[in-house]
Amino acid sequence: MNIVLLGPPGAGKGTQAKRMIQQYGIPQISTGDMLRAALKAGTELGLEAKKFMDKGALVPDTVVVGLVKERIQQADCAKGYMLDGFPRNVSQAKTLDGMLKDLGQKIDHVVSIEVPDAELVKRLTGRRTCRDCGAGYHVMFDPPKKDGVCDKCQGQLYQRDDDNEATVSSRLKVYNDQTKPLIDYYQGQSKIRGVHGVGDMAEIFARIVKVLG
Ligand code: AP5
Ligand code: MG
Ligand code: ZN
Repeated sequence: MNIVLLGPPGAGKGTQAKRMIQQYGIPQISTGDMLRAALKAGTELGLEAKKFMDKGALVPDTVVVGLVKERIQQADCAKGYMLDGFPRNVSQAKTLDGMLKDLGQKIDHVVSIEVPDAELVKRLTGRRTCRDCGAGYHVMFDPPKKDGVCDKCQGQLYQRDDDNEATVSSRLKVYNDQTKPLIDYYQGQSKIRGVHGVGDMAEIFARIVKVLG
């Protein structure tokens, strides 16, 4: 099963993807995580991407398309995968469709997680992530047992550089202008599975499992 997780910044794509890995046994492919990993490794691609990410802008299509193309052909993707944060504009979606056709694959479902803007700002500005294992937290909605320390691996928690109020507002604008049109694009392919993204994280997960049937 090949799934696209679609939703604004802070909708809970990453949070729900972690649960879906367990449920469906398929990997999460987050272009944002891959770009941050490239930056952490100090590669040229990572350093170039950071210039766009810090502004809340999209990294050029060729860069992310290249990353995804290589990743979906790895062995652990043989039974399917979840794309988190890709595609992010209609051009990427069209390129993806062409790429999958060549590989004899297709997207089966697009899970569209809907959350109002005011809630997104609260979620993003309070998000914390583990430097070592990547586990996600929120200072109010999902706090770690000990301030700044990961429950799972005792790693240090950090705040993403793009989670400040100014960059969050640019990211929301970019989402509305460039990513939201994907809802119509995939509606045209009858692939949209809408999920109300406000409420308890476990409850939202149950809604996703339900729409995926
Ligand atoms: P990316 O890393 O993909 O960021 P994003 O799309 O902005 O999404 P987020 O990761 O911020 O949100 P999320 O939906 O995963 O939320 P989460 O589960 O963490 O991209 C970053 C940048 O990389 C982009 O701006 C761009 O520059 C570049 N990029 C990436 N992909 C690209 C592409 N394809 N093309 C071009 N450029 C690209 O949850 C957020 C917080 O809320 C957490 O703290 C969590 O604990 C909390 N939370 C989750 N669910 C709930 C709930 N139900 N109730 C309360 N709190 C909740
Ligand atoms: Mg994410
Ligand atoms: Zn950790």
